[in-house]
Amino acid sequence: MTGLVARTIVTGTGSYLPERVVSNAELSETVDTTDEWIVERSGIRQRHIAAEGEFTSDLAVAAARAALKAAWREPSEIDLIIVATATPDQTFPATATTVQEKLGINDCVAFDVAAVCSGFLYALTVADAMLRAGTMRHALVIGAETFSRILDWEDRTTCVLFGDGAGAVVLERSEGNGDADDRGILAARLHADGRHNSLLYVDGGPSSTGTVGKVRMKGKEVFRHAVTNLASVMTETLEVAGCKAEDVAWVIPHQANLRILESTAKKLGLDIDQVVITVDRHANTSAASVPLALDTAVRDGRIKTGDLLLLEAMGGGFTWGAAALRW
Ligand code: UT7
Repeated sequence: MTGLVARTIVTGTGSYLPERVVSNAELSETVDTTDEWIVERSGIRQRHIAAEGEFTSDLAVAAARAALKAAWREPSEIDLIIVATATPDQTFPATATTVQEKLGINDCVAFDVAAVCSGFLYALTVADAMLRAGTMRHALVIGAETFSRILDWEDRTTCVLFGDGAGAVVLERSEGNGDADDRGILAARLHADGRHNSLLYVDGGPSSTGTVGKVRMKGKEVFRHAVTNLASVMTETLEVAGCKAEDVAWVIPHQANLRILESTAKKLGLDIDQVVITVDRHANTSAASVPLALDTAVRDGRIKTGDLLLLEAMGGGFTWGAAALRW
């Protein structure tokens, strides 16, 4: 393809982690588990937990402010806010509108996306389409979670795996030549298969029980599906982008389990050193994990202009997706 085409580029990233760090050792004082088990099975060593009175919107706003600063943008320039979260402040209004209010933005489009751990990929893909459609120029896409609030702290099979946090990106409509050398989002692919609803879910909700509910997961089955689905959507996305696995500089994955990261990298023939890993320090922060990992590798200088990034995630639903992004 030749000629100018619309492309969405990332102009700034930001993230926020609550102050309180809980180590595996601290957790094992109240939960029937050990540091050895958690590290061996998941790679997790610690997680951040939000303070009482600290909400998903607070985490989201802190990450958004950092991303806006990095992008040299004022809140008033933002046309669209999408918050990916499974732990909104309230059932409604959307946390995105609370974030909007806290940022002092009086008029823009703001809504939440519920795709759990794939939420950031879903939100990024929707924002990309809306920006390229041409009526908006700048977007804030945020993944933010206080998953600690929906954990059953007596269920050792789930509560040791998750943490709280937020990550954000500022997106801007730009132009490219329509080839794989362009900067920005080259391709994004999303999937869902609701037949697997019962493998990873929350056992409550406003319409069913009238309660918030707690996370339930059949970990082994989720693990099996995750490796297969992620390798498949990563390959599909690279193909659509006109790229090959060897072109990838960095994989920015959802951080559920170190063994999933190792297995998917191996399936694609990528070195584990090309995978940005934060699961050891952040645990699984659901929709926040991809933008948290992205911000980490941008700020420590690993990601350089021109690098091809492959973002991926899989979560409850099942939902899964990937995006190829040239920095
Ligand atoms: O973000 C959305 C996507 N989520 C994921 O991708 C998560 C995918 N799944 C996983 O990461 C892994 O399946 C887990 C980390 C959840 C579990 O690892 P596993 O190797 O599949 O272990 P398992 O569930 O088969 O459990 C093995 C044993 C069991 O004991 P028995 O039945 O063999 O006697 C569990 O009861 O480990 C026991 N166990 C624990 N022991 C100590 C389960 N949780 C714990 C624990 N501490 N926290």
